[in-house]
Amino acid sequence: MALYGTIILPGDKSISHRAVMLACLSEGPSVLHNVNRGADVKQTVAILKRCGMDVQWQEDTVTVQGAGKAPFLQPQLPLDCGNSGTTARLGMGLLAGYPLQVTFTGDESLSQRPMKRVIVPLRQMGARISTRNQGYLPVMLTGGELWGIQYDLPVPSAQVKSAILLAGLNAQSETSITSPLPSRDHTERMLKHLGAPITNEGKTITIKPLKKPLKYLDYTIPGDISGGAFLITAALLEPDSEVLLQGVSLNPTRTAFLDVIKAMGAQVKVTKTGEVVGEPVGDILSRTSSLHGITVPPEQIPNLQDELPLIALLATQAEGETAVTGAAELKVKESDRIEAIVTNLRNWGADIEAKPDGFVVRGPTPLTGGRVQTYHDHRIAMMMSVAGRIAKEPTRLDDKDCIGVSFPGFLTILDKLEHD
Ligand code: S3P
Repeated sequence: MALYGTIILPGDKSISHRAVMLACLSEGPSVLHNVNRGADVKQTVAILKRCGMDVQWQEDTVTVQGAGKAPFLQPQLPLDCGNSGTTARLGMGLLAGYPLQVTFTGDESLSQRPMKRVIVPLRQMGARISTRNQGYLPVMLTGGELWGIQYDLPVPSAQVKSAILLAGLNAQSETSITSPLPSRDHTERMLKHLGAPITNEGKTITIKPLKKPLKYLDYTIPGDISGGAFLITAALLEPDSEVLLQGVSLNPTRTAFLDVIKAMGAQVKVTKTGEVVGEPVGDILSRTSSLHGITVPPEQIPNLQDELPLIALLATQAEGETAVTGAAELKVKESDRIEAIVTNLRNWGADIEAKPDGFVVRGPTPLTGGRVQTYHDHRIAMMMSVAGRIAKEPTRLDDKDCIGVSFPGFLTILDKLEHD
């Protein structure tokens, strides 16, 4: 059925996490509107409250009373990060420079995701960290005096980069990070905007210790392009559709999905309308499109990884072959996404093959629909819900609730956009 309408998306999840964390380091009230209300960001708010911060939610507005130089108190209970890698990894960096003893825990999925990538640099900076399970949660961190390091990121991960930058704010000397490929840069943009001494030269970012509290601001978090990508995909695939997304973050480290689908023949029009806390913002109009397969450039992968399940789905409806390589990181997301994508789409009749670092799809093939094994992964559940709209049989998700991790209300929005 055709999709038609205009949507203002919930706030970007990555920006929301960073906005509430950095607000703690100012010396006044930050008022953040359109904060992502998914379980992940709620988990970040919960751990900050457990560390003594005054954070109030009202609808989608969050007010954080920043507490300047020494904002955090010793938590009396473990910091439960739920399903959220961003909460755990950025949380460790944020707290590493304070004299606290904290334990980070997570749900079953998060407890199987690698934490060594954050632990190694934070230990080099002086944090004392032990794990009960060789590099996995639970992680016990004793924070305190840190010194700056020069660190070459082995994987282009925004979470690791951000954890080091947050720790660097509290170090005794400057910290530089070099990344093999660019990854989402919300932390850098926000830090700069809030007055932190951060500079960027080529592949290297340098942060100096924070001498004065960050600025506190009142602003609206731009819409989440990763959430919007599910609606864009639905509009491209369903006949006679036209969907306008307004107020979306158009940060160039997040828009590789748009470049790739345009290269596949998608009719998408992007209009920049302004800027918020250093983030370009605009509207995205997408229409039903005829697609063809492409080879996705591996250097685009870090800026596209959350959208790769959708590239796989689009490829099942595109003429010819689509190949994705350089995406081994998909194996350590909320689920092993290579397995989750391939198993589900193949069960529905797609011609898709798993590779060690990606997948190859030959299209177009009709999709049968039916049962979905979500692996309790929000992005798999949403991708298959979109796939279900062009499938023969109704979709049966084994876990609908996991969608609430990033995009509560997603299924309702999809239904609302329906147009006969
Ligand atoms: C995120 C970074 C990415 C992304 C995740 C959110 C962030 O993970 O997949 O959904 O907010 O920094 P990596 O840092 O592991 O690449």
